[in-house]
Amino acid sequence: MTRLAGKNALITGAARGIGRAFAEAYVKDGARVAIADIDITRARETAAEIGDATFAVELDVTDRQSIRAATMETSARFGSIDILINNAAIFTAAPLVEITTEDYQRAFDVNVHGTLFMMQSVARHMINNGTRGRIINMASQAGRRGEPLVAVYCATKAAVISLTQSAGLNLIRHGINVNAISPGVVDGEHWDGVDAFFADLEDKPLGQKKIEVGQGVPFGRMGRAEDLTGMAVFLASDEAEYIVAQTYNVDGGQWMS
Ligand SMILES: NC(=O)c1ccc[n+]([C@@H]2O[C@H](COP(=O)([O-])OP(=O)(O)OC[C@H]3O[C@@H](n4cnc5c(N)ncnc54)[C@H](O)[C@@H]3O)[C@@H](O)[C@H]2O)c1
Repeated sequence: MTRLAGKNALITGAARGIGRAFAEAYVKDGARVAIADIDITRARETAAEIGDATFAVELDVTDRQSIRAATMETSARFGSIDILINNAAIFTAAPLVEITTEDYQRAFDVNVHGTLFMMQSVARHMINNGTRGRIINMASQAGRRGEPLVAVYCATKAAVISLTQSAGLNLIRHGINVNAISPGVVDGEHWDGVDAFFADLEDKPLGQKKIEVGQGVPFGRMGRAEDLTGMAVFLASDEAEYIVAQTYNVDGGQWMS
């Protein structure tokens, strides 16, 4: 498949997990990908494993200088940036009465500040270059409704859905489409941490929470990163040109909206 032939993408948080799967799928479909991550060691390993169409760039999405530097480095290496995926995020969970200012601030810095100012930096670059670009933000079913122990993460992902709508409406006049993907529960290192949190909180054996959430998905199992790549390629492809400011659930039937 070469639906993304000649396109250059910057994917945040692509050293592992869903971001890595996006990078692999994009390269298979003909794109070049900047693997941008705060974990530069892992990003370099990932880039080396995926191959020549990628390179690793250090990025901390909470830091605007780092955002500017990663945007400039990607554009210098590739000549242009056609696609941005705002995938980097952190998870945090606690009963409401135990949420700390530090956890709240860090989650909003990575998940919301990161998404907003990455969009701004790359959109400026696309506008200056006359690129009819694509921006894809990673939302979550957690952004569709609250969860008793996950107030802060849910709020950050609701903010990502809202930012996608406003940015989508603002940037389409420049020919830049902004949309989002909303996964449900996707197995991987991220969910290893979530599982451990609930094992501790609910006194369950490790792995038990994953079994329970998987059984709760209408499709019958947890998602895999590969379940999301089709939507990520489609939203970046020519066929998605008329899609503006939307958030798509790719979650095995978890949520309807
Ligand atoms: N896994 C799920 O069940 C699930 C469900 C819904 C939504 N999502 C969303 O999908 C996206 C990817 O999830 P995942 O499961 O692959 O997560 P993950 O934790 O496996 O990967 C996140 C990546 O982001 C990087 N990162 C963290 N902070 C960063 C920062 N400040 N700057 C740059 N990079 C940073 C990490 O180093 C890591 O490589 C996230 O936006 C997440 O919220 C995941």
